[in-house]
Order: sequence, then C-alpha cells, then structure tokens
Amino acid sequence: MRVVSGIQPTGNLHLGNYLGAIRNWVRMQDAMPAGDQCLFFLADMHAISMPHDPAELRRATLEMAAALTACGIDPARSILFNQAQVPAHAELQWLLNGTARMGWLNRMTQWKDKAGKNREGASIALFAYPVLQAADVLLYQATHVPVGDDQKQHLELARDIAQKFNTDFGETFTLPEPIIPPAAARIMSLRDGTAKMSKSDPSDMSRINLVDDAELVMQKVKKAKTDPEPLPSEPGGLAGRAEALNLVTIYAALSDTTPEAVLAEHGGQGFGAFKPKLGELLIETLRPISTRFSELLGDQEALDAILARGAAKARELAAPTLEATYTALGLVR
Ligand code: TYM
Repeated sequence: MRVVSGIQPTGNLHLGNYLGAIRNWVRMQDAMPAGDQCLFFLADMHAISMPHDPAELRRATLEMAAALTACGIDPARSILFNQAQVPAHAELQWLLNGTARMGWLNRMTQWKDKAGKNREGASIALFAYPVLQAADVLLYQATHVPVGDDQKQHLELARDIAQKFNTDFGETFTLPEPIIPPAAARIMSLRDGTAKMSKSDPSDMSRINLVDDAELVMQKVKKAKTDPEPLPSEPGGLAGRAEALNLVTIYAALSDTTPEAVLAEHGGQGFGAFKPKLGELLIETLRPISTRFSELLGDQEALDAILARGAAKARELAAPTLEATYTALGLVR
C-alpha cells in the first residue's frame, strides 16, 4: 500500500479540505504499519497555474506545512514535502505529456471552470495541470489517493494516462485508487448549498477556516444560509434543502456519525437550536488545531527543515520510477 496525496498551498486550510481529505490523510497515516510511510505534499508547482504573488506563495507554502502538521500529519512518520524541491514531478509530467491527450484534458471540469470563457488567455499550466497531478501519484507507484470528490475526475485521468503508457511502452505504473470519504466528500459553501466550500470563494463567510477563532466560527455558523423549516427526523426530509443537508453532513462528519443518527437526535429542532450546537462542535474540533498551528508558525526554520527532510526522502523514492520511465521511452541517459 502506498498512500500519496497533495494540497495546493493557496489560501487557508478550510473545513472542506479538512473533512474531505486531511482528516483521512491523518487516519491513513495512523493506520500505516510501522516502516511504511505515506507521502503528503504541497502542490506549489500546481499553484503557479493561476496568477500568483511569489512572496505570498512562499508564505502560504510554509503556512500550509504548519497547518497539515497541526492537523496531525507527523513528519516523523509521513513524508511531508513541497513539489518544487522534488524536480522528478515536473520531469515526469513532461514524459507523460506525450501520452496524455488534448481531448482528455479538454473534458476536465476544473479546466472548464477555471478557464471560463477566456480559454485563449488561460495558461498552458492550467490546461496541463492534471498531467502534473498524474505525475504526482504515478511517480511513487501510489495505490491509494485520499481526496475529496472534486478530485475524482483528475484521478480517473491519472489512471487513463497510466494505462495507456503501460500499453504503449510496457508495464511501468501502478493504477491509483481514489479514496473518497463516504460522508464528507463534498462540503458546501455556508452561503450557497449548491457551491462547494472553496478557498477561491470571495466571501470569507462562505467557509470555516481552520484558523478562525471561536467567535468567528460561531458567527459564520449562525449566519449560514438555511431555510425556515425545522430539521426532519430522516434524511429523506432533506431533499431539495441543500443548505440544511450541508449543516447536517458537517455535524455528522465532525461527530463521526451518520446523517441518520444526527437527525434521529435533532429532528424537529429549528436552526435557532441546531446551529449553536454545530458551532460548539466546530469550535471544540478546531481549538487544538489552531493552538498547535500558531505554535508551529512561530518557527519558520523548523518548517523549512521538515520540508527539506521530506523532499530528500521523496527524491529517493521517486528515482527508480523516473528512471524506468526514461528507459521505457527510449531516452538515452
Ligand atoms: P485542493 O488544494 O483544492 O484541495 C485539497 C483537498 O481537499 C479536498 N477538498 C474538499 N473536500 C470536500 N469538500 C470540499 N468543499 C473540498 N474542497 C477541497 C480536495 O478534494 C483535495 O483532496 N489538485 C489538487 C491537489 C493535488 C493533488 C495531487 C491531490 C495536486 N496533485 C495528487 C491528490 C493527488 C487540489 O487542487 O486540491
């Protein structure tokens, strides 16, 4: 079993990232047999596919390393690094560009969403983004990739690339399996139950950031969009009530139970009663994370050292597959 996953170091870590992916990373790390390691990385090379400020990217990269560590990623047990320190990611992407098809990339919903109507003006990096993502996991022969639902299509593309490469040039890559949490795969915006919670939403009230203080968390939950109906006692009663469903999903994920169990307990309550309980649960979950985050952020040198150590191990693990790919393609080294 080889677990690999990544996150872009842009903006704050939010509740969607945490429940959709990071909490699963920590659980998979903790379940790993001694001697085996998971690889978790900051996708800083992906972050340059959109306009960005270099100083801000550097700051955000260290901040995200601190945030992941605060959430429970243990750099002594997992390999934590940033892509830019492991050139094999970019190298393998180029080698896979010969296999990836324009048509496949054109179908990617993230490309369509992010490029919008201005495709001509979008960067090549934004278009080729999923090929770098394929390289990220194929480089380490990943078997399991814990992600939220929005990354499923990119993982399917990674499998397509691996399969075509293996067919054309001989067995080289393992086909990675996405691991998507059944309950919290898609946490939605607090302002609009049809849009996913996202770093790029201009309204900060749409998301809970892992560094928000208790007062702000409670304020965001209380102001979250809902409807005037009380909670039903069964999930069927949430049909057509996207915002109510989202709050119940968050409550269930935080308390490690199911929406059925949450509704069995809270059905019949209005949001005036339910929201403060959800707020408290969030505050309790986030308190230890944000305390640890502030401590870690105070020591930039330690964060640099964690990333440097992780990158050295990742470079070592990446070398055999990179070499095998060059050879399979007939490139003389
Ligand atoms: P990113 O940085 O957008 O998000 C990191 C992880 O958080 C999950 N996520 C969510 N899950 C549930 N609800 C939400 N509202 C929500 N928002 C985000 C994402 O699914 C993801 O798992 N392209 C990737 C980074 C990446 C990567 C990889 C991931 C680069 N290379 C290789 C896996 C394997 C991204 O931008 O994730």
